[in-house]
Amino acid sequence: MEYQIRQYGLQQGALEIEYIEEYFGEFPRKKTATEVMRRLDERDHQILMAEAPLPDDPSTVVPVAYKVSHELRMRETEPKLADLVERLRASVEFDDRKVLYSWIGGTRRDWRGRGFFRALTEEQEAWAHDNGFSEIVVKTKNGFYDMRSTLDQLEFNVVKFEPDAEDNRESKVYLSKQIGLEVLDRHRSRRQVVRSA
Ligand SMILES: CC(C)(COP(=O)(O)OP(=O)(O)OC[C@H]1O[C@@H](n2cnc3c(N)ncnc32)[C@H](O)[C@@H]1OP(=O)(O)O)[C@@H](O)C(=O)NCCC(=O)NCCS
Repeated sequence: MEYQIRQYGLQQGALEIEYIEEYFGEFPRKKTATEVMRRLDERDHQILMAEAPLPDDPSTVVPVAYKVSHELRMRETEPKLADLVERLRASVEFDDRKVLYSWIGGTRRDWRGRGFFRALTEEQEAWAHDNGFSEIVVKTKNGFYDMRSTLDQLEFNVVKFEPDAEDNRESKVYLSKQIGLEVLDRHRSRRQVVRSA
């Protein structure tokens, strides 16, 4: 199978994210287009969506999985990002290298387990390498078992664990992957990437 991937520019991409997040029951607070634009504007970023035909109407192609990442710098001024860097400082090297933060993403329930997220991740890694990033960092929760299993399969390493005293499923898990040519050599998905405005 060849995965069809669309890489969006900021404005259209932000609207597409707002739209696809409506399909994710597990996200309590969905991102708005405004929030996405504010976060990604003026920093290196990538908005990817995988598209697939609807099973009962194959002539209609819809977004089924997405992945959004952005540069994370050693000196961030936005409070959420400054806090994230502070938490990661002892585990991730920011000095003189580019770090990509894998911010949000997922696959719509009916399309899970068919390699869409792997294809997006491999495309993200290829882009990261081409754009001079040395490492991809991602944060998840202990209790997001599907995501943890997936990141395990995609060879992300745990770099930090932040326990939640009340509910261990709420504990934060930080993972990372160093990006080198050997990582790209292990890619398996066949992908066709289209760039949209
Ligand atoms: C996690 C998620 C993105 C996986 O998407 P997907 O498109 O089904 O993933 P893929 O089919 O590309 O699978 C990628 C790899 O992970 C493995 N994997 C995926 N889901 C898995 C699961 N539930 N259990 C075990 N392994 C799993 C696959 O076997 C595959 O490994 P392989 O390529 O070596 O065979 C999807 O389940 C999802 O959107 N979950 C909800 C989102 C979420 O929990 N977000 C938390 C915020 S951090």
